[in-house]
Amino acid sequence: MAAIYPGSFDPFTNGHLDIAERALDVVDKLIIGVLNNTTKTSLIPIEQRVELIQETLKEYGDRVEVESFKGLLVEYCKHKKIYTVVRGLRAVSDFDYEHAIYLMNKKMLPDFETLFFMSNTESSFISSTIVKEVASLGGEVVDQVPEPVYRKLREIYADK
Ligand code: PNS
Repeated sequence: MAAIYPGSFDPFTNGHLDIAERALDVVDKLIIGVLNNTTKTSLIPIEQRVELIQETLKEYGDRVEVESFKGLLVEYCKHKKIYTVVRGLRAVSDFDYEHAIYLMNKKMLPDFETLFFMSNTESSFISSTIVKEVASLGGEVVDQVPEPVYRKLREIYADK
């Protein structure tokens, strides 16, 4: 069975890594779909976000495919012919949003299904937004992001 793990991943954190690795215990193949949202400015350009995730998960070989997608997730699911999506839940505060997007996606694509994974304790407080804020202000995020992402953040904020 294959599933799509969609997200902005700006940047990919250890929380995302935990969800991806646990999903790989359940599914045979995981497609990581990095949202190319042209209306939102991102810290890391889309091609680099894809490369950083590829590098982070390279030990999984062809069980992991990382690519960008634009537009509706349900259209991307149809294009890939994969209707199962993976999402992480950190806390109750994630639930309302995840529930709403699940229902909306299900309405647009009745075959759509979501596998929700609960974050582990270590990752339950990590978010891309917090990582960016701390890193931009010179704080240490080595424990919150995979090594390739850490190097990229160091490079981005080196002269700031
Ligand atoms: O990392 P994020 O920002 O939590 O990921 C959210 C994502 C990418 C799963 C969601 O915004 C999404 O699917 N966007 C694509 C556009 C879409 O399908 N929107 C309708 C459902 S909100």
